[in-house]
Parts: sequence; C-alpha cells; structure tokens
Amino acid sequence: MTKNRDSVRHQAVLVTGATGLVGQPLVDALKARGHTVRTLSRRSGDFLWDVPAGTMDASTLDDVDCVVHLAGEPIAQRWSAKAKRRILESRVSGTSMLANAILSTPNRPAFICASGINYYENKPVGTVDENSPSGSGFLAEVCSKWEAAAAPLIDNGSRVVFVRTGIALSATGGALAQMLLPFKSGVGGRIGSGAQHMSWIALNDLVAVYIRAVEDSGLAGPINAVAPQSATNITFTKTLGKVLHRPTLFPIPAFLIKMLFGQMGTETILADLDVRPKRLKEIKFTWQTPKLAEALQECLIS
Ligand SMILES: NC(=O)c1ccc[n+]([C@@H]2O[C@H](COP(=O)([O-])OP(=O)(O)OC[C@H]3O[C@@H](n4cnc5c(N)ncnc54)[C@H](OP(=O)(O)O)[C@@H]3O)[C@@H](O)[C@H]2O)c1
Repeated sequence: MTKNRDSVRHQAVLVTGATGLVGQPLVDALKARGHTVRTLSRRSGDFLWDVPAGTMDASTLDDVDCVVHLAGEPIAQRWSAKAKRRILESRVSGTSMLANAILSTPNRPAFICASGINYYENKPVGTVDENSPSGSGFLAEVCSKWEAAAAPLIDNGSRVVFVRTGIALSATGGALAQMLLPFKSGVGGRIGSGAQHMSWIALNDLVAVYIRAVEDSGLAGPINAVAPQSATNITFTKTLGKVLHRPTLFPIPAFLIKMLFGQMGTETILADLDVRPKRLKEIKFTWQTPKLAEALQECLIS
C-alpha cells in the first residue's frame, strides 16, 4: 500500500530522462507528493551531462537522497549498427557514470533504474517472473548489461531497484501511439498470428511503481512493472478496436513487420512476453488501472 502524502519522508530526487514519456508525469507526481526534484539532461535540465563524453555537472548529486535513471536512446528505430551502439552505450555508460558518482558521495543515494521486460526470452516460453533467466537477442543483452552496470552499487550495499517495464500505454508516445493511426483509420488488425503475449502497463500505474520504489526503503532488486494480466495480440487488437469503435479486419503478416522494421520488429512487435508482476503482488501494490479496456479508454479520452 502507498503511504499518503503527509506521512511520506520528503526526499531530494534526481531524475534522468525527465523529458521523456515516463519522466514527465513522474516528475509531476514526485513534486505532488512533496519531494524535491532535480533533473539531469543532455540539454534542458537543472544539471547537464554528456554520456558519450563521460561528463556530468560537478554538483549533480549533492544532497540527493534518490536517483531515478530513465535516460536512454529510443528503442523504436531501425537498428543499424550505429543505432544499436547508441541504444546499448547510452544505457550502460549512463548507468556506470551514475554508479561511480553515487559511490563517491558520502550519503549514497538509492538508485532506481529503468529496465525492460525484454530482459526475458522473447519467444514463447510460458509465463515469466522476476526469478526467470534473461533471454536471448539484442534487447535482452541491453537489459542485462544495463542492470549489470549498477552492480558496483549493489556490491557496496546501496539500495538498487530495476523497474523492468512492460509496454507503457499512452496516446502521446510509445507503442500505442504508433498503433493509433492505422486503427483510427479503420485498417488495424492483429499482427502475425496474434497469439503473442503483450505485457502492458497503464502509464499512471507505471508512475506509481516508480513512486513506490522511491519511497519504500525496503524495496530492492528487479520489479516487473506490468499489469496483472498480459493480453495476446489478438485480444489487444480487438479491445483497441472496440474502444475506438473501429473494425480490426486487416491482419499484418509477420514477414511484413520483419521487412519494415528488421530485428527491432522481431524483438518488440512480434515478441511473445507473458510477464507476471510477482514482486508487485508480494508488496501488495494496488493497480489503479488493471484492466486493458479501461486502460485504453483512459489514455484515449484523456
Ligand atoms: N515507455 C515504455 O513503454 C518503456 C518500456 C520498457 C522500457 N522503457 C525504458 O524506460 C525508460 C523511460 O522510458 P520513456 O518511454 O520515458 O523513454 P523516452 O520517452 O524515450 O525518454 C528517454 C529520455 O532519455 C534521454 N535520452 C534520449 N536519448 C538519449 C541518449 N542517446 N543518451 C542519453 N540520454 C538519452 C532523453 O532525455 P534528455 O533529452 O532530457 O536527456 C529522453 O527524454 C527508457 O530507458 C526506456 O527504454 C520504457
């Protein structure tokens, strides 16, 4: 259960990637709960950093209680060799820089690091939870190395949480926003066989998971940030069609996804990830929007 605002220990929280899809509502929510927020950005934050150059403003971590690390090169792009390098290195180097900076501070802030459910095997293996092994493929490698970059913190006794994030639902960014145009135009449909599982989470619930990770000093390790139930692509497609009052009669064959998006399409759009939020259930996290139809309805009307 989340504490109410008045019983919360107010913290100074440094957020990277605060300009992104998750970062923007998270910063608002942290402030609304009485925390002081500082942002670290490549161009428009309270503090600046340059990850490829390995530089960061000197006083970035002064008196910070908790670091929330969201920054990383966008995944949804064609994976050229250069793009793959940016996707991997922005996360691994950014995490290493923060870990080293935290280790040199006297107060050792907690470290809450984004990660992805793509950590797990993306082919059908049944349900997975936080105890499941990492999978194969580029994104699984990215997530493993991203998390491993924070290992020096864990070895030194710092509190570290990895938020292994599912498909965050928002009409303004991420996977759903990209699906909206064909669906609104009435040419949406299942992708491939449609049997692949999509593990999603409403954006407001994802923000609440981060808030919990910041405020709950007993929480550490990986947390799957997904709704209680995943949906197959067919169910997701039909539900989105119903919410939009549009037909969903135009299936997109898997080969077309592979042709258009290459490896990125295979590891994201065609991925079969049936991820369970074991840890969130153990800590009695309450989802505000646990049902897919309501989650889609909410982000499409707001
Ligand atoms: N949204 C999802 O469905 C989802 C699912 C799984 C995992 N995640 C992970 O969760 C994190 C937050 O997601 P998001 O959707 O909010 O991401 P986002 O909208 O793409 O924002 C990420 C932020 O990272 C910074 N950034 C971008 N490219 C960078 C680079 N090359 N080097 C360093 N920083 C860079 C940018 O902040 P500045 O311009 O201020 O530097 C940007 O606002 C990401 O790491 C993402 O991979 C998200």
